[in-house]
Amino acid sequence: MNEKRILLIVTGGIAAYKSLELVRLLKRQGLSVRAVMTQSATEFVTPLSMSVMTEDQVYGHMFDLKEESEIGHIQLSRQADLVVICPATANILAKMAAGISDDLATTILLATDKPVLAVPAMNVRMWNHPATQRNLAQLRADGVHIMAPDEGAMACGEFGPGRLPEPPAIAERICAMLGHDFDIMLTSGRSPTTVPGGAALSAELAHCPLSGQRILVTAGPTHEAIDPVRYIANRSSGRQGFAIAAAAAALGAEVTLIAGPVHLATPPGVARIDVETAIDMQAAVEKALPVDAAIMVAAVADWRAVQAPEQKIKKDGGNIPALNLTENPDILASLATHAHRPRLLIGFAAETEKIVEHAQTKLAKKGCDWIVANDVSGDVMGGANNAFHIVTKDGVDSWPESAKDVIARKLMEKVADALAKG
Ligand code: C5P
Repeated sequence: MNEKRILLIVTGGIAAYKSLELVRLLKRQGLSVRAVMTQSATEFVTPLSMSVMTEDQVYGHMFDLKEESEIGHIQLSRQADLVVICPATANILAKMAAGISDDLATTILLATDKPVLAVPAMNVRMWNHPATQRNLAQLRADGVHIMAPDEGAMACGEFGPGRLPEPPAIAERICAMLGHDFDIMLTSGRSPTTVPGGAALSAELAHCPLSGQRILVTAGPTHEAIDPVRYIANRSSGRQGFAIAAAAAALGAEVTLIAGPVHLATPPGVARIDVETAIDMQAAVEKALPVDAAIMVAAVADWRAVQAPEQKIKKDGGNIPALNLTENPDILASLATHAHRPRLLIGFAAETEKIVEHAQTKLAKKGCDWIVANDVSGDVMGGANNAFHIVTKDGVDSWPESAKDVIARKLMEKVADALAKG
């Protein structure tokens, strides 16, 4: 029997009623669903309704197993192909991020070795709260898949992100994760097309065009030690890379941002990994793979000291020490030939002259798909604006100077188009 199995964890929010519709759609797609409800979920939906929909008993308590043969929390998590939390409240996200297990749902989530998809739904202020965004970033870093909530009018009368996406969009995302064909005919009010698992985005996701895409961004400078107190650095502020990571997350991507030493706040919904040296950055990039797209914005130091002594180099009566340098690994070029090469690999080029010409040479040398070239002869490094020349094998797309966050959004929309085309 190769029917794919979903363990659906329903937590207590006003959107819990939509979980019944989700079960109906998943079963129509030929998937099996077993449900676990938290205590507060049962305030919104009765276990009886859920049991009728899943055609199975509903699990809720850790210690009420009536028979030896009844299934325990470890088995519940192990027997599924995918664990889905829908709706996922701010509370369960916080517990997951902290590793708390104080009921059946949270114990399953700590015990599972299967992929986990959380579909959050909550009030817009709760969604925007730094604690929730911090927890989401932690969960993304832990490998939990997060489906971006919809924006719009909420049950509480407020407006903004936090609404549960419509059940057909959730069902489609689940099918994509399982590599299971999604038949739109089987959902109401949809055009009759079959979407192969993992391939396309539906109209419901059009405003989140990067939903389901994993995107890696490197940003900032690297610092290369000369001794414990001195280092080689450059003027990169990290602002453009952070703006790109923020734009990618706002368009629904799962973003990992690998940042050199910069003093910038982590954009909402982004999983950030701080590094210091080029070698650290390369290791962090390697760990973040596989991804759909990598955007290498970091100004990685070209060289590092062959040896950095453990003690501070003393200033010694006119004896000037020589810096013996060696080349750093080229992270971008190494990704181009990597077994897990991202589908779209983008490098940046900071140039002070012959910008497009140098970018074309770099495109070939690095083996990436696009080079985003910018003129750093002015105050671009650390400044608020930037102008891009997107150089690809097909030509050059030159964009006028704009604020770094505006141009970042435009770039990520172009990335979304390219990923959608395959
Ligand atoms: O060779 P250059 O430093 O001009 O290349 C710039 C591009 O290559 C940027 O995308 C940068 O992030 C990436 N790079 C890298 N590893 C290096 C040097 C540059 O990933 N060691």
